[in-house]
Amino acid sequence: MTAVIRTVADLRAAVAGWRRAGDSIGLVPTMGALHEGHLALAARSRTDNKRSIATLFVNPTQFGPKEDLAAYPRDEAADLAKLQTANVDALYAPSVAEMYPAGFSTTITVAGLTDHLCGPHRPGHFAGVATIVNKLLLQATPDSAYFGEKDFQQLQVIRRMATDLDMPVEIVGVPTVREADSLALSSRNRYLSAEERARAAVLPRMLSDIAERLSKEPGAVVNEIAWGFRQLEDAGFDRIDYVEVCDEATLQPVGRVATPSRIFAAAWLGRTRLIDNWEIGRQ
Ligand code: PAJ
Repeated sequence: MTAVIRTVADLRAAVAGWRRAGDSIGLVPTMGALHEGHLALAARSRTDNKRSIATLFVNPTQFGPKEDLAAYPRDEAADLAKLQTANVDALYAPSVAEMYPAGFSTTITVAGLTDHLCGPHRPGHFAGVATIVNKLLLQATPDSAYFGEKDFQQLQVIRRMATDLDMPVEIVGVPTVREADSLALSSRNRYLSAEERARAAVLPRMLSDIAERLSKEPGAVVNEIAWGFRQLEDAGFDRIDYVEVCDEATLQPVGRVATPSRIFAAAWLGRTRLIDNWEIGRQ
C-alpha cells in the first residue's frame, strides 16, 4: 500500500520509523501527471533503497507569470494508482500552505549553471526548483534522490546545490524515457494536438542526428546548430528558444566538442514548450 502523506510532521514520523528499522530511503520529486519517465525514477529508487517516497507538488514558485501553472495537469488519484503498482511506499503530496506558510522568505539560487539554456528564458525558474527541492530533501532526509536527464540543466543545478550545501544525499541522474519515435515523455505532451504531436518527433531526431555527426566532427558546432534551427523551422515549430551545445559539467556553450558535452534544445509547438537534450558520444 502506498501511504498518502500531507504534512511535514507526518513525513518526518514515517521516515523516523523507517530509520529506526535501518531502512535506506529514496526520494523521487515530481509535479504529478505521472508517466513512464517518472516511473523509471521510482523503479531505480526501488532497486537502490528499502523505502521509496514519491512527492507530488506543483510548485508555484518555479512557474513564470505567463506560464502554465493554472493549466498544469493534475490527477492525484491516477498518480496514486501508478505508484501503488510501482510499489512506492509513500506519496508525499503537501498543500501550497504546508510548503510555503505565511512569511516564507528564503530562496536558493545557483549561479553559473543557470546562465544559459533555460535560465535566461525562464527567469526565477531554477531558483524556484532549487528552493523546493532543498525543502523536500530537508523534509524527507533521503539517502538518495532521483532526477531525470530529460531536464539535464535541472539535474546539474540540483547536484551543484547538494554539493555546495554539504547535503548528505546522493543525487542520481536517470536516462530519458522516450516514445517509439524518440519524443521524450513529458507531462506537457498532453497539450499537443495530434498534428503537433506528429511534428514533435523532429526535435529528438534533430538532436540525435547532430550528436552523431559532432561525435565524428567535433569542430562543426556552429554549422550544426544552424542546421538544427532550420530543421525545427521547417517542421513548423513556432518559436525556438535555443539550440546549443554545452559542456556537461559547466553548461557553458562550446564551439568545439572537446569535453563531455550535450546538445540541448527548447522550442514551442503552439502553446507547448518542449525541451530535450542528447549526449554527444566521443570517438
Ligand atoms: P516533473 O516535470 O514532474 O519531473 C519530475 C522528474 O521526472 C524530474 O526529475 C524529471 O527530469 C523526470 N522526468 C520527466 N520526464 C522524464 C523522462 N521522459 N524520462 C526520465 N525522467 C523524466 O521536474 C520537475 O517535475 C520539478 O521541477 C521538480 C524537480 C519536481 C521540482 O518541483
